[in-house]
Amino acid sequence: MHIELSEKLKSFKPFLFEELYRKEKAERTRGKDIISLAVGDPDIPTDKSIVACAVSEVRKGANHRYPNTKGNENLRRAVCEWHKRRHGLVFDHDKEVSILVGSKEGIAHLPLVVMNRGDYCLIPDPTYPTYRTGVVLSGGRVHDVPLEEKNDFLPDLGKIPQKILGRTKLFFINYPNNPTGAGVTLDFFRDLVKWARKNEVIVAQDAAYCEIYFDEPTPSIFQVNGARDLAVEFYSASKTYCMAGWRAGWVVGNGKLACALNQLKENIDSGQFNAVQNAAAFALRNHEKILPAVRGRFKARAAAFCKGLRESGWHFVEPKGSCFVWARPPVKCPSLDAVCYMLEKASLLAAPGSGFGRFGEGFIRFSLTEPEPVLATAIKRIRALDWSGL
Ligand SMILES: Cc1ncc(COP(=O)(O)O)c(C=O)c1O
Repeated sequence: MHIELSEKLKSFKPFLFEELYRKEKAERTRGKDIISLAVGDPDIPTDKSIVACAVSEVRKGANHRYPNTKGNENLRRAVCEWHKRRHGLVFDHDKEVSILVGSKEGIAHLPLVVMNRGDYCLIPDPTYPTYRTGVVLSGGRVHDVPLEEKNDFLPDLGKIPQKILGRTKLFFINYPNNPTGAGVTLDFFRDLVKWARKNEVIVAQDAAYCEIYFDEPTPSIFQVNGARDLAVEFYSASKTYCMAGWRAGWVVGNGKLACALNQLKENIDSGQFNAVQNAAAFALRNHEKILPAVRGRFKARAAAFCKGLRESGWHFVEPKGSCFVWARPPVKCPSLDAVCYMLEKASLLAAPGSGFGRFGEGFIRFSLTEPEPVLATAIKRIRALDWSGL
């Protein structure tokens, strides 16, 4: 029987990196020792104390039953305690927090709870690709908002056309930013909240990298008065506590949105394993003990990598946070050509900026999620690369 897949599925763009991975595999098959800095999957193991907590939680029979979709009270309370310590903000653990099976699924589901066919969602360009997922599923439309170096990779709100704004429901932003490594200021959040209120746009700040900042702590949009009327923030244990495989995330902020997201999810998943949720709660409550070492390593990695790139003639703005360096090679060329050239000549794989959007063209994203000696070898290879052959 011929199985015809849905139009919806077909409307998802093919993964741009697929062709690259094929090339990488072919190089490996030829015996090449490839270093891949293409994906942001943290190499640092989860802190032993979190693992020990999880092991004891796995042994508890009560945790073997279905969790509830909204998340268990222990984790929701731990999220609120963390916000109180970190930003001095008080959230209602019952009404303003919902636990996610990793923040990605919440991000992908949010458009489904607010967007109708034909509504617009504003998405940064370059972008983390999942913001598009829910928009496609909801039948909504995407309007790309450029993130340009001249604006510190912050959106220029005044340039978003009024006729798009008239039909815009949602705006995803993400700081510290993947892929550019840009940071955000409270002043920008103030302008954004004012603008969003005027234009009746919901703001979703993806704070996946909020704790991987290098100098200035990342503010929360909820430090702005009134932000709770129109915004949510997505959080993730994946980078902060190096728990990417555990799938723990949460959404905080506007209660109507957090509850609506939960209502949708009740029809789709049954929540995260309580043992994982309790381990994430432990991580949040021990944040000040666990996090500095993780942040320190990413900061040192970024400094060493940037030094190597600078000395090799690359152009970039130093990242303010995240696990990424976003840079232009010494020779002006399409991102994909530069990536293929590095793969062939230096056995080094990175992500082409064009894969993150039109405004990513010309850039390369290096992910610093490999151990320090591997990153040092990568830099050695970059230094030795002769671009005159491209
Ligand atoms: C910007 C951004 N947001 C969200 C996520 C998803 O994180 P999680 O592991 O919590 O689903 C990622 C993962 O790479 C990311 O880069």
